[in-house]
Parts: sequence; structure tokens; C-alpha cells
Amino acid sequence: MRRPVIAGNWKMNKTASEAVAFVQELAPRLAPYTSVDSIVCPPFIAIESTAAALRGTSLKVGAQNVSAQEKGAYTSQVSGGMLAGLVDYVIIGHSECREYLGETDAVINAKIKAALAHGLTPIFACGENLAVYEAGETNAFVSAQVRAGLDGIDGEAVSRMIIAYEPIWAIGTGKAATAEIAENICGGAVRATVAELYGQAVADDVRVQYGGSVKPSNMREYMSCPNVDGALVGGASLIVDDFTALVAAAAEAKG
Ligand code: 13P
Repeated sequence: MRRPVIAGNWKMNKTASEAVAFVQELAPRLAPYTSVDSIVCPPFIAIESTAAALRGTSLKVGAQNVSAQEKGAYTSQVSGGMLAGLVDYVIIGHSECREYLGETDAVINAKIKAALAHGLTPIFACGENLAVYEAGETNAFVSAQVRAGLDGIDGEAVSRMIIAYEPIWAIGTGKAATAEIAENICGGAVRATVAELYGQAVADDVRVQYGGSVKPSNMREYMSCPNVDGALVGGASLIVDDFTALVAAAAEAKG
């Protein structure tokens, strides 16, 4: 049985003090939902204070990226070794990092390996743009991203990972994918590809999230999909009431 998992990707929002105030309000609200894994991913500058504020609570902290390198002359970058002990999760391969930071499938694969080497759980993001979607090539495109991202990673590690399917056309647009699309790609592309690569047992264990304009109003539909184990959430994760409603919906559907 896969535990539902809701992760808030705050992107470039909230100062360190705003982050602390937010999680001090959020953590007690989420405490009743013990059957759901809940994660906040603040900007790097707010990770340490957020993690300190959440010590002893069940709300976990993730980073929004990690370097593939261990240390050295990589201005602006943060390594897995620096994050270990502060966070449990790290988002890797977000479409905004692919687009604005030029991250390729090969870089993302190296980052996943770096995260695993430091005991961090990757939240590996994949998803197609509108042109690919309209061409009807989503399944093949996402499957190729999953293959490339997982290249050389063993099944035991993959079974403990989270893979997030986030169609770029649904991110921050309010145009959420239908539950049918989410189920088809989370199941028919992401989980099916993991099954092809590693066998059914690993595919049954890996958790797959949907992301892209997830809101309290559509969360129940996604959570009713057999292959959707939770959500990677941007905008709604910045609002305490909304974050709480998402976690409550996940607990109700799959907790
Ligand atoms: P929104 O929920 O704001 O569409 O963002 C989704 C996302 O990119 C999460 O990583």
C-alpha cells in the first residue's frame, strides 16, 4: 500500500521568516492526517530555519534542487552533502529548472544519483509542453524522460523515490489536466515505464504524483485515480487553508 504524499513547491516565494511563520501555522493543522506524508519545499535560504521550526513535527522539508557535484568551484550551487540532515526530499527535474537553468535529462540523472548518495529522496519531475501534448506524443515523451532520469539507478532506490508528472501547460495556468489524463500518464507512462525497467514490484512501490494547478476543488478527482498517489503543488501550497484541504482530501481518499 503506497502512502499518499503531498509536496508543496514554494518556488521563489516566502522569506525565511515568512516560511517559519507559515509552517508554525500549518504543522498543527496537518497533525491529524498521519496517513499522509506532507512536505514543504522552501527556497534554500529558508530551509534551515524551516527545518528547525518543524523539528518534532510530521511535516517534512524538501529542497527545490541540488547540485550534481560534491563541492568546489560551482558558484551558486548547493550540494547533497550540504542538504543532508536538513531535508529529507529534493525536487529534481522541475520544468522551470529544465527551461530557465538549462537542465538536461543527463544533468537530472546525475542530480538524482547525487541526492540518493546522500540519503535524500528525489521528487523527480517530468512532463511535456503544450506542443507535445497537442501532437499526442505525451506518453512517449514522458516515458523517455523517466528512462533517461533513472538511467543507471537500481530498482531498490527507485522503489523509494517519488516521480511527479507535471504537464507544463497545466503549471500555474489554472488549466489543470483532467483526472483522466493524470491517471493515463501517471499509470500508463510513468508507472508502466518503471515496470518495464524494473518489474512490477518496484512499479507498485514507487509513488507517482500529479502536479499542475492542483487546488482543493480538484484534489478529490486526482486522489480517486488508482495511479495517482498525491500531488506536487505550487500556488495552493502557499496558503495554509488550501494546503490543509489538499492533505485532508488525500487522507480521506487514500489514507
Ligand atoms: P501550480 O500548482 O502553481 O500549478 O504549480 C505546479 C508546480 O509547478 C509544482 O511543482
